[in-house]
Amino acid sequence: MDRIKIVGGGELNGTIPISGAKNAALPLMIASLLTADRVTLKNVPNLADVNLLARILRNHGTDLAVDGKRTSPNLQGETFHLTARDIVDTTAPYEMVSRMRASFWVLGPILARMRQAKVSLPGGCAIGTRPVDLHLTGLKALGAEIEIDGGYVLAKAPKGLHGAHIIFPKVSVGATHNVLLAAALAKGETVIENAAREPEVGDVAALLVKMGVQIEGIGTSTLRIQGRDRLDGAIHTVLPDRIETGTFAMVVAATGGDVVLEDTRIELLQNALDVLAATGTTVTPTASGIRITRRKGEIEPVTVETQPYPGFPTDLQAQLMALMTRAHGTSVIRETIFENRFMHVQELARLGADIQLHGDTATIKGVKHLRGAPVMATDLRASVSLVIAGLMAEGETTVGRVYHLDRGFERLEEKLSRCGANIERLSSG
Ligand code: EPZ
Repeated sequence: MDRIKIVGGGELNGTIPISGAKNAALPLMIASLLTADRVTLKNVPNLADVNLLARILRNHGTDLAVDGKRTSPNLQGETFHLTARDIVDTTAPYEMVSRMRASFWVLGPILARMRQAKVSLPGGCAIGTRPVDLHLTGLKALGAEIEIDGGYVLAKAPKGLHGAHIIFPKVSVGATHNVLLAAALAKGETVIENAAREPEVGDVAALLVKMGVQIEGIGTSTLRIQGRDRLDGAIHTVLPDRIETGTFAMVVAATGGDVVLEDTRIELLQNALDVLAATGTTVTPTASGIRITRRKGEIEPVTVETQPYPGFPTDLQAQLMALMTRAHGTSVIRETIFENRFMHVQELARLGADIQLHGDTATIKGVKHLRGAPVMATDLRASVSLVIAGLMAEGETTVGRVYHLDRGFERLEEKLSRCGANIERLSSG
């Protein structure tokens, strides 16, 4: 298994191009199941999760052609042409869905188009139990008959789906995607209240509009969708990855230096950037991105709790915690979205961090020095928090199980080393 070796200490200076958002690319690719026509997606990041979903979609009958070379030196995203002329298989098997939860979101579109679908339950995962009850309640409201058998969701709608008024009791990104995608091919109007407002949901809605669906309230918590019998093909560019943006911003806050994050937008992560500014980091908009600067001086501690968008994202919690390990004082971070998203705490402690956990709250006492050590990645965002800590630490840190990192960060080592970081991948051969 590959490992990443980091020698901490230096400042970062330069430019980092931001990739298309993983968490938008996945549901956008899934949306292509709704039409027999071609859906073209530009700025698709080259990530393990994207490649796995491509395999899953091919299994359902999608033809996928890719423009652009995976090895392109300018780190540009690829263009995917997806055509699901016929859905040849309405089953999404356990072996695939268990490897990536987002593949469960094929349920809504396959059910809406084929009037039946059999999709494996995704199972638990490292960051929490992550149930799918809201997805199923939403689809039942649209007229689906649902049974669970042998670990699979068996969904049927012999007469097709119909519009409904759905009020989610809790904000869920995945349930919003699943119901929004299904509602696009349902008969009549669907209203989703308490919908997730994450920009990636807005990006999917924007693609659906191009495919001919009328949607009101994009970007708000109430979506009003007029379903159609048939959707058209469309061309769409995946929006910038706000979590990758926030991660690199925290890297620069951690190491010091001056880096321009290109091809991204401040408003996608205003809350996280406000928190970063409170730590003493300067955030400035540029024509095509964001400049992050931190000169000498202490990192100020902060008190933060994760919240659905537009609040502070859970997907940046581990990275912020890594930064706070070196703050000048005590920080408090409360995780309100996932109950078990603190697996990085023990690994950060191996580098000398002082973190106390009480239920959903971590109290981080800043230390003067971190020291490099071998550590283990446990999930995608936890693994990048170890990279941040390694870049701040004295001496050498090796991060094991980097396949977690490859699920969601495109060419991380290359982007960082171009700005002067001492980081390399040790290939297991
Ligand atoms: C999406 O996961 C993201 N994944 C996650 O990013 C992100 O952390 C999460 O949203 C929250 O922002 C993708 O976009 C591919 P949820 P999702 O449904 O949709 C509970 C990453 O690192 N819930 O919004 O699975 C759930 O247990 C990943 O890129 C129910 O109770 O998250 C959680 O506590 C990790 N019942 C909360 O809602 C349900 O039916 C929010 O989960 C569904 C969810």
